[in-house]
Amino acid sequence: MDFKLITTDPSGARAGVITTDHGAIETPIFMPVGTVGSVKAVTQEQLRSDINAQIILGNTYHLYLRPGMDVLRKAGGLHRFNGWERPILTDSGGYQVFSLAANRKIKEEGVVFQSHIDGSRHLFTPENVMDIQRNIGADIIMAFDECPPYPSEYAYAKKSMELTHRWLDRCIRRLAETDPVYGHAQTLFPIVQGSTYKDLRRASAEAIASRNCAGNAIGGLSVGEPENEMYEMCGIVTEILPAEKPRYLMGVGTPWNILNNIELGIDMFDCVMPTRNGRNGMLFTWDGVVNIKNKKWADDFSPIDAQTPCFASQNYTRAYLRHLFVAGEFLALTLASIHNLAFYLDLVKTARKEILAGTYGEWKRRMVPQLQTRL
Ligand code: GUN
Repeated sequence: MDFKLITTDPSGARAGVITTDHGAIETPIFMPVGTVGSVKAVTQEQLRSDINAQIILGNTYHLYLRPGMDVLRKAGGLHRFNGWERPILTDSGGYQVFSLAANRKIKEEGVVFQSHIDGSRHLFTPENVMDIQRNIGADIIMAFDECPPYPSEYAYAKKSMELTHRWLDRCIRRLAETDPVYGHAQTLFPIVQGSTYKDLRRASAEAIASRNCAGNAIGGLSVGEPENEMYEMCGIVTEILPAEKPRYLMGVGTPWNILNNIELGIDMFDCVMPTRNGRNGMLFTWDGVVNIKNKKWADDFSPIDAQTPCFASQNYTRAYLRHLFVAGEFLALTLASIHNLAFYLDLVKTARKEILAGTYGEWKRRMVPQLQTRL
């Protein structure tokens, strides 16, 4: 993987290009979440041509449990299995194990947990999580970390962060001892933790930067803390992480969260919000947030969002999409997901243009209140 930083806008926002063996990614970028190897309700063809996604996510925890490593190995990896030929990033499961699995026990060696599907017992260690991600075959793979809940006591957050750092060294060692399974390169991103404590965030960012990996991630945010704390932590960390490497803020967020964090020097984002909230009838548009189930849209025959360059956004009406939701039609989930993802991709693409023009800060200040409007 290679990262070329093209420019840093006066506001601090950055434009760059990540190059992987499965193609290039223009940053800042939003990465649709395809937990089990599928972006819910959306086909790979729609991701490619309607949404113009450049990279999608998969999740180690979910793919390990289903379809399992045998099937993925026989398929020739996730790219072959799901037919997505562009880059893929897999999260390590270090988040899902803590949010989904039952009876989990954290030890120095790793985490023992029970599957949320059938209750079966498993052990994740930094070593086997690297092996699993080798088998899945993503272009960018994440270190095995512990994401502490919010709020966490200082002593717990510190112990947890130190464990994440020790686990990182084991991840790095394991990757150095093993080869990619399918020929293409795989790049490890370590994850900064430290909860909402400034000194811990600083210490973690320094520890992570010192490992000299090709890209770096920030975890443990957007877990219930106030937005201003998320921005404060993110700002502290981006000042320390090296400028010449991509920075990925995990699990964030709303359109305005993304614009504010781009200004803090973040290059990559993922979040279930456009798909999950979309399936509940929440639409993000350039004019603000729409609850499409609301009666007020029953006879609104304007497009879902004329400004988002996507067939679904421009050619189906709000009235029709509301009708689909009220009638419980599957197509509602697909159209809402396609629109929201196309909007998120258009948001970061437009942000990139403003960064390249050197006008990002002013543009962002105009956009944030507009995006937050409840329509
Ligand atoms: N996704 C959102 N936050 C996190 C985190 O802290 N760690 C991991 N592994 N994934 C995340």
